[in-house]
Amino acid sequence: MADIVSRTAGDCGIVIEDNWPGYSLDLFSYPVHYSGDLECVYIPHGVIMDRTERLARNIMDDLGDHDLVVLCVLKGGYQFSADLVEGIKALSRNSNRTIPMRVHFIRLKSYLNDQSTEDLQIVGAEDLSFLNGKNVLIVEAIVDTGKTLKMLLKHVEAFRPKMIKVAGLLVKRVPHSVACLPDYVGFEIPNRFVVGYALDYNEYFRDLDHICVLSESGKMKYKI
Ligand code: HPA
Ligand code: MG
Repeated sequence: MADIVSRTAGDCGIVIEDNWPGYSLDLFSYPVHYSGDLECVYIPHGVIMDRTERLARNIMDDLGDHDLVVLCVLKGGYQFSADLVEGIKALSRNSNRTIPMRVHFIRLKSYLNDQSTEDLQIVGAEDLSFLNGKNVLIVEAIVDTGKTLKMLLKHVEAFRPKMIKVAGLLVKRVPHSVACLPDYVGFEIPNRFVVGYALDYNEYFRDLDHICVLSESGKMKYKI
């Protein structure tokens, strides 16, 4: 997408259809402190890990042998970044191709309850001059309208990296998308609010491994 050098045709990842009901919570384990707060397991942790392993390989195939700066978008992106970096490290250990990586963290704030607010703050991105001439991989947990990503790309591009790629674990099918899609997509999902695997609802549910759909009572319980 934001690729200054070349654009890869977007692969939309594993497509989860609108009518996907998720798995019954009884089929999996999850912390008892969230019982009653969830409707279903939408994407089991193991599936996330398997998909992430493959994304790591795709990234390695495209970018192997060049230094990479991983730009992890906090807070939601910490788990996906960590697992993606682990995947790339595992491939580097086991082949002749290897990517020396640096990891940098930035934070975006734009959500209250389950609603996006217009004003976006970027924290930790004031001086990204070390990105000059580097290959950059922005790692985001979730992309919906693409507005946030578009703004972030504009900000990062100003520091003149050699190349920018974006990895997004989830892309939501939403109306009014600005068609700013990641180069590497884990899953394309319906327009539902999901939690777990570091995605939060008012800071809760980051400590849940599976990606789940919140129940109405869960929404009420943690509303602010
Ligand atoms: N869950 C958690 N955080 C989010 C979501 C979501 O579905 N969409 C955007 N930020
Ligand atoms: Mg959040």
